[in-house]
Amino acid sequence: MCLLNKSLLLAIIVIIIIVVGAGLYLQLAGQVTPAEKKILRVGTSPDFPPFEYIDEQGNIVGFDIDMVRELAKMIGYDDIEIVSIDFEGLIPALQQGQIDVIAAGMTITEEREQQVDFTIPYWEADQAILVVKDSCFQPESPDDLVGKVVGVQTGTTAESYLTDLVENQGYDITIKSYSSYVLAVTDLVNGRVDAVMVDLPVARMFEKQYNVQISGIVETGEKYGLAVRKGNTELLNKLNDALTQLMQSDKWDQLVQKYFGQG
Ligand code: ARG
Repeated sequence: MCLLNKSLLLAIIVIIIIVVGAGLYLQLAGQVTPAEKKILRVGTSPDFPPFEYIDEQGNIVGFDIDMVRELAKMIGYDDIEIVSIDFEGLIPALQQGQIDVIAAGMTITEEREQQVDFTIPYWEADQAILVVKDSCFQPESPDDLVGKVVGVQTGTTAESYLTDLVENQGYDITIKSYSSYVLAVTDLVNGRVDAVMVDLPVARMFEKQYNVQISGIVETGEKYGLAVRKGNTELLNKLNDALTQLMQSDKWDQLVQKYFGQG
């Protein structure tokens, strides 16, 4: 009786050791498998050179992408995953948890601040009016756009700027909204719109890539920030610390040089 009890006890101890050991092993093994890599999911609308665009190989590249890749590394992520989403869909995608951060040359506005949390600003921009190169139509200010069709990207500050003129200030301007800025500029080249309103640094790139030119500048003084889900303070603080550090480093100057030519 006593002997039986002893061997039973021994068997139970052995089983416990095996079960606990196996559990520990699986847990440790799990930590090193690639499936457990820490990935930062980044949403962008790649129609906004040099901040984000599609290169000749079909890859999404640009200033914002390199910047976020660097920041992700600095705050302990193994890699980033770029998710391409139309600009107007970025905030909903963030809110629904499909992405962790928006990097899309997104202007920090009061309206958006109700929906997302922004990092400190990393870039400043005004708006530009783009027309076909050497066209006789050379609008210098929004007043010159009266009676005309102007292309913008849906959900952008350019769209809300023009909408405000039309709805609240009695301007007769026809706004044509596109899912992407590349489509808006293509329609400008093809004569389907009279002008395009887009952020100035991007307009400068479009001048190099398409048969278009800047005819006027509207000083909106916008500031770009990265956006995270409202209340995701942990990620926000980490990104802000890393961004502050990055912007003071040589890497930042190299990044600016790479995408904007002159620092
Ligand atoms: N800065 C403007 C805004 O926030 C335009 C941004 C468009 N970005 C893009 N990746 N297409 O509304």
